[in-house]
Amino acid sequence: MSDIEFDPKDFRFALGQFPTGVTIVTTRTKDGEPIGVTASSFNTVSMDPPLILWSVDKKAFSAETFSENEYFVVNVLADSQVATSNRFASRGEDKFKNIAYENGLGDSPVIEGSIAHFECKNWSVYEGGDHFIIVGEVQKYQYNKNQSPLLFSQGKYAVSSAHPDC
Ligand SMILES: Cc1cc2nc3c(=O)[nH]c(=O)nc-3n(C[C@H](O)[C@H](O)[C@H](O)COP(=O)(O)O)c2cc1C
Repeated sequence: MSDIEFDPKDFRFALGQFPTGVTIVTTRTKDGEPIGVTASSFNTVSMDPPLILWSVDKKAFSAETFSENEYFVVNVLADSQVATSNRFASRGEDKFKNIAYENGLGDSPVIEGSIAHFECKNWSVYEGGDHFIIVGEVQKYQYNKNQSPLLFSQGKYAVSSAHPDC
């Protein structure tokens, strides 16, 4: 525990001043059930080796599975996938109902309509306070340049557009 005490709502709002994309990170449970969680904490780490990271709340249903599994997939959402993002940000029982996907590495779901996906091997898991920081080595990836990403900024979904000065 820290002796720094921020108002959690205010701290979250301050962090939301930094816009991000939105991903759904997926894997399978030991019983083979697909699981996934909406995550905006995705970021690049290294080009050589090709590493990315994201962080998962230790209280999330899927946290233990993600920290122990060998493989996971990061699906980068398109701006048409708000409903899918909301579905995977909830604690619903059957998040994959009516969601079209194919199996990536470790049978981790590659969600149809995503603008990019990164199939990763678990490289390392770090303690990060109330989150696990999960670093993955990208084994395979694909992207579609003709679609626009879903963004999350100041606590709300947003869309991207070219800056008028450019
Ligand atoms: C835009 C957005 C971004 C989010 N980013 C993260 C994140 O990076 N890490 C995380 O643990 N939860 C994040 N969440 C919350 C999880 O999606 C949510 O807690 C989800 O219910 C966890 O699923 P689970 O409990 O079934 O594992 C985010 C939610 C939204 C709407």
